[in-house]
Amino acid sequence: MNIAISGASGKTGFRIAEEAVKKGLKVRQIIRKNSVVGAGLENIETIRVSLDNKKELDKSLENIDTLVIATGARASLDLTGPAKVDALGVYRQLQSCKRVGVKRVILVSSLCTGKLFHPLNLFGLILIWKKIGENYIRNSSLDWTIIRPGGLKESEDIKLERIEYSKEDTQIKGSIPRRLVAKCCIDSLNNKESINKIIEVTSSPDNKKISFKKAMQMI
Ligand SMILES: NC(=O)c1ccc[n+]([C@@H]2O[C@H](COP(=O)([O-])OP(=O)(O)OC[C@H]3O[C@@H](n4cnc5c(N)ncnc54)[C@H](OP(=O)(O)O)[C@@H]3O)[C@@H](O)[C@H]2O)c1
Repeated sequence: MNIAISGASGKTGFRIAEEAVKKGLKVRQIIRKNSVVGAGLENIETIRVSLDNKKELDKSLENIDTLVIATGARASLDLTGPAKVDALGVYRQLQSCKRVGVKRVILVSSLCTGKLFHPLNLFGLILIWKKIGENYIRNSSLDWTIIRPGGLKESEDIKLERIEYSKEDTQIKGSIPRRLVAKCCIDSLNNKESINKIIEVTSSPDNKKISFKKAMQMI
């Protein structure tokens, strides 16, 4: 399977790329012109694009079976970032998928997407724009999965962490290491029951251990 990861220079994106490589998938990183490639991933196929350049985007998705979208506006003083990246950027990637025939798409979104009264919205109403991005995917004809993580953690200490999986709009707090989010993306690639589902994920050592497969049967 050929998989492309957009936003592969990000803290979740590079872990998704790493997990995909570990599974033996053929990986293509799609990043910006000035993005810094993750350490250790210098040798995998890398295409640099601007999300608002149709031609570049289409070329970057040629011969790809699945796109994982891990782009997200980086916190900055530019409050238009979330509209540009989390809504319009997602829309453009989906349009490109349709033009070139990519059938499967997985989006890393966020818990609380769509909520108006939330402190995260101080950054350009990000949760509203993320919901709009999600809706583009839900209304597309593609096989989609939306992963909504809680607060993202850099910790790689995941041995004791157990994921709580739930359906949309059921969790409002909690956190999860980015490594586990990356693994969820790869798990959902390999599990047809995750198609057309929104999956909310947080983790804690206090949760009961459950496989991704079992969780998908319950959501
Ligand atoms: N932080 C949290 O606690 C949290 C919680 C839940 C969900 N999320 C969401 O989870 C996702 C991953 O988060 P993260 O913290 O791992 O991300 P991150 O490290 O901030 O990485 C963001 C990625 O998006 C790319 N990007 C940003 N603006 C872009 C643009 N205009 N055009 C193309 N690419 C662009 C970045 O490229 P460059 O490397 O070139 O900047 C980078 O690859 C994001 O959507 C985030 O909103 C975050």
